[in-house]
Amino acid sequence: MDTYLSLPYGHDTPLPEGYVDEVRTPDALVERFVRERTDPGDAVFDPFAGFGTTLAVAERLGREPHGLEYEPDRVRRIVDRLADPEAVRHADALRFDPDTVPACVLCFTSPPFMTEGMASNPFENYAGESTYDDYLADIETAFGRVADAVTPGGWVVLDVSNLRTDEGVTTLAWDLADAVSGVDALSFAGETVVTWERPPDHEGENYQYGYDHSYCLSFERVA
Ligand SMILES: C[S@@+](CC[C@H](N)C(=O)[O-])C[C@H]1O[C@@H](n2cnc3c(N)ncnc32)[C@H](O)[C@@H]1O
Repeated sequence: MDTYLSLPYGHDTPLPEGYVDEVRTPDALVERFVRERTDPGDAVFDPFAGFGTTLAVAERLGREPHGLEYEPDRVRRIVDRLADPEAVRHADALRFDPDTVPACVLCFTSPPFMTEGMASNPFENYAGESTYDDYLADIETAFGRVADAVTPGGWVVLDVSNLRTDEGVTTLAWDLADAVSGVDALSFAGETVVTWERPPDHEGENYQYGYDHSYCLSFERVA
């Protein structure tokens, strides 16, 4: 497993009309992990599918994509991108039944983010209320279910970052590593530091969240 990666930053498709500044995983990062951790025909899961980057890359590489997404409009956008409209469904990652997902070799995902100062609930797309401690407990619940959808020896990889705001730094990457490590069936296998190749006129610019790097946290599904 690489512990450091530098990849081109970009997306294969533009954001759908009406969306601005939404967080998406660059396609090259998903591709790197799908190629490294799976074979053609393997099932790949994203329980926080967003605009469908993981699912679209998996499908393009001949893997079988499966995804969940909380926002109905995003589900429709993903369906438009995929050959198999059944590959994604409208569901809550905190409550889905793992038996409804085929056994997956890789879960590659980026969960909704929260800073310590926020009071809205990321798992309801920032509509309801939450505390940071409740959010971390919800992360453990969601990944407990995710673990049951992954085959022993398979992988759960989280694309995350620490968050630097005017209020200070939330060590989200460290805290997510800790919360997901609370799931008995997942064993933390280490982090990959990810930086982005930028054109010369963008040098020194931060990626999102006030940093110029992010992390992929790898967990192995243990028997
Ligand atoms: C960081 S985004 C994922 C972006 C994705 N990796 C991409 O490249 O498009 C997190 C996604 O999780 C979704 N989400 C939030 N709460 C959820 C829940 N309870 N169940 C499933 N999805 C949820 C949000 O609507 C959002 O689209």
